[in-house]
Amino acid sequence: MPYSPYFNPEYETLTRPELEALQLQRLQQTVRHCMNAPFYQNKFKELGITPDDIKSLDDVSKLPFTSKEDLRENYPYGLACVPLKDCVRLHSSSGTTGNPTVVLHTQKDLDEWANAVARCLWMVGSRPEDVFQNSAGYGMFTAGLGFQYGAERVGMLTVPAAAGNTLRQIKFIKDFGTTVLHAIPSYASRIYEVMKEEGVDPRRDTKLRVLCIGAEPHSEEQRRRIEENLGVKAYNSYGISEMMGPGVAFECPEQNGIHIWEDYFIVEIIDPVTLKPVPDGELGELVITTINREAMPLLRYRTRDLTRFLPGDCPCGRTHRRLARLQGRSDDMIILKGVNIFPIQVEKILLKFKEVSTDYLITLETKDGNDIMTVDVELSQLFTDDYGRLQSLEKEITRQLKDEILVTPKVRLLSKGSLTVSDEKKAVRVKDLRKLF
Ligand code: COA
Ligand code: ZN
Repeated sequence: MPYSPYFNPEYETLTRPELEALQLQRLQQTVRHCMNAPFYQNKFKELGITPDDIKSLDDVSKLPFTSKEDLRENYPYGLACVPLKDCVRLHSSSGTTGNPTVVLHTQKDLDEWANAVARCLWMVGSRPEDVFQNSAGYGMFTAGLGFQYGAERVGMLTVPAAAGNTLRQIKFIKDFGTTVLHAIPSYASRIYEVMKEEGVDPRRDTKLRVLCIGAEPHSEEQRRRIEENLGVKAYNSYGISEMMGPGVAFECPEQNGIHIWEDYFIVEIIDPVTLKPVPDGELGELVITTINREAMPLLRYRTRDLTRFLPGDCPCGRTHRRLARLQGRSDDMIILKGVNIFPIQVEKILLKFKEVSTDYLITLETKDGNDIMTVDVELSQLFTDDYGRLQSLEKEITRQLKDEILVTPKVRLLSKGSLTVSDEKKAVRVKDLRKLF
């Protein structure tokens, strides 16, 4: 019997009224469940609301927003809505100063997450006959285990290659007959560059067919170029570790917007300044409420990602709304090599070294298909010109930055005054010169 085009037809093709009824029921349940956490009890008290005030989907606007700051201030377990003994995993990401953000999962949460990712992978044509290779970092990076369990749920043979070691990735792709690959766009470009150097023709020498690309914003042109070079269909994946990771939203075969799974999430798009909803179809900040999470539900979480709703029904038959490809951030977060970095993290490390000033510039560039970060920083006035000491200082700053931001930057120490810029340009801390291909 041929496969269904849907992994969860009973959810993916619900009529809008059915879907909205399910959302309301799950929202009410979630809000009641949130009262297990003093964090939410206090937020509700401040707003003068109780779970009984949520009578319709529109009432979501009565609920408090949550943000990365809330997660950090209540580190590590302050937002848990179940006893810790019922949790089986946590993921933690660094970011800005202070505490990392922690997301807790029960076994049911992990099962739902695997299901959501499986639904996405199935949607783009992955089937049990496929071989799936994942080039994301494992460990704390949610795209590692997230895609792993999702691909296993589909029933594919999985190759958990993890990040880096491009020659070995290519050998695996060839030898194991990988048909579905997950890689962030810049790394897909890197793989192609190395294939070219090694005389590997992706069309002739590999069975690659589907590429899942996410984590980094990329344009339609960049997607088409990747498709052309690797001889694949590339689909946009949207994940956010605070929601769970990959599996939040994904493109369907139409390649026109990402379906966000509305049986898992209630989605709003707001003006990041007024915090009011933008008119339907306009660009704003994506705000997500989880409606089937046990360990750590998040109400109206401000993702800081900018996008808009796409109008109309999708010909694929799925009724879950589509978002346009992401258009950037409402904060200054950088995404480099699939890793989220805030300039303030760099500043925090530089501040530890009295030998350098706080004038610095981060430059992001692509060299030989590799994205690199250079941190130029000025020496403070009275520092030495002893070359040996400067070299060891550079090395130590590099090491501490790598510990903080998880990628290895190139640090350059400059003499005082080299970075001097006019006052209004002083805020420009990041120069992004990257290109894909
Ligand atoms: N995914 C997979 N491999 C990557 C990568 C990425 N996003 N970015 C870089 N790499 C590769 C590099 O090409 C290099 O391989 P090579 O030497 O065979 O060419 C290798 O990883 C090391 O990269 P390098 O730039 O020298 O080291 P780094 O210390 O700056 O980077 C990484 C550290 C790559 C390990 C880190 O960036 C990482 O783990 N990235 C993956 C993050 C991720 O999975 N995010 C979720 C995506 S949805
Ligand atoms: Zn569709």
